[in-house]
Amino acid sequence: MELNTATLEQHWLPFSNNRDFKREPRLFVRASGMYYWSQHGDQILDGSSGLFTTPAGHCRPEIAKAVGEQLQTLDFTPSFMRGHPGGFQLANAVAGLTPEGLNHVFFCNSGSEAIDTAMKIAFAYHLARKEAQRTYLVSRERAYHGVNMGGTALSGMVKNREAFGAIMPGVLHLRHTLLPENRMTRGMGASGVELADDLLRFVQLVGEKRIAAVFVEPIAGSTGVIVPPKGYLERIREICDRYGILLVFDEVICGFGRTGEAFAASTFGVTPDIITMAKALTNGAQPMGAVAVRDDIYRTIIEEAPNGVTEFFHGYTYSAHPAACAAGLATLKIYETEQLFAKGRALTPYFQDAMFGLQDMGVVHDVRGFGLLAGIEVKPGKAPGMRGADLQAKLFDRGLHVKFTGDVAIMAPAFIAGKVEIDQMTAILRDAFAEF
Ligand SMILES: Cc1ncc(COP(=O)(O)O)c(C=O)c1O
Repeated sequence: MELNTATLEQHWLPFSNNRDFKREPRLFVRASGMYYWSQHGDQILDGSSGLFTTPAGHCRPEIAKAVGEQLQTLDFTPSFMRGHPGGFQLANAVAGLTPEGLNHVFFCNSGSEAIDTAMKIAFAYHLARKEAQRTYLVSRERAYHGVNMGGTALSGMVKNREAFGAIMPGVLHLRHTLLPENRMTRGMGASGVELADDLLRFVQLVGEKRIAAVFVEPIAGSTGVIVPPKGYLERIREICDRYGILLVFDEVICGFGRTGEAFAASTFGVTPDIITMAKALTNGAQPMGAVAVRDDIYRTIIEEAPNGVTEFFHGYTYSAHPAACAAGLATLKIYETEQLFAKGRALTPYFQDAMFGLQDMGVVHDVRGFGLLAGIEVKPGKAPGMRGADLQAKLFDRGLHVKFTGDVAIMAPAFIAGKVEIDQMTAILRDAFAEF
């Protein structure tokens, strides 16, 4: 399909260099399994599962069929004081995958909405417990928690914040854990557990009962794959427990098998109070996010409200949209019947060997990885991020789609990948890196 570039003007692309894109558009027109096809008919291997959305591979007929049937049976249900079977079925299915005790699921439409929902749940919970003075939130430098105003305030990525000013007071940022001592470490680094003690300092700074919740990506993904140091998540959990602070794991990238288990909470053996998720919940086929909460948090908010009133003043027109629920149910069924999390685990050593094998390339500054997620950081060019942008275009033209943040290539193959696709990814990366 040839494009008339004059028609590209009206669409304002998110998180993009619109001028460069529109000068030289790289569009996908079709996808199947591990591949995309460009508007010129070129086949492009998907090295990042879309945007970490698509671990079961593209255009799964089971999901398309379920969504199509749903739209012909019940296309929309008002989400307030109404429901449909799919919402309850999907909540049950998600609860079957979350750690023990996190069995109540609130649906929304994206990771960003999941984060803002989790923030409100945390505040509503403390209010119900008569601790409304807990008005502070804690996140981390280099964190990415989406782009809604709440998530932007939590964010620790400079560019995502600087244009929007101090939009929400009362957010404190722990130091990030990307340490030079852990450079080229496979899995969890040995250094950095003590950085969790920043949380203690915040407790001392603002008062013992002033912090509502701490938001942590178990592996910080969008900032360029920062795997937590050994013992770090446990230490954060301990401090939260000591001071009655809720721990929220943002598993928008880690959730649904990326780290080997259904959730990184299980992989790392640390159970948070709330988990946010999105992306792979529907294999990317429908927009959907969700928040799983500890049962007593749900009960406290519900039971402390007077009878006959709405307990939690929050929700979206499209919460638990029937088509998204159908996609989610079909997706979770594929994960189960094809044992995709186990398949991902089995592929992990081969994938990590391949990614860490790239450290002999002169342009590579660091490699970090865990599960089917790896960050390959290249040495910066004239300005930070310029080489990354250049590489992303070069890789696309060689037939590989990769999500970049700045100068970090974020590799996240679908769980249906085999050694052949990992080899193909590695060969294309090697070829492009060799140009620098
Ligand atoms: C950890 C994390 N939280 C939240 C989000 C926001 O998700 P969405 O883009 O669906 O709003 C993302 C997106 O990449 C993410 O990685």
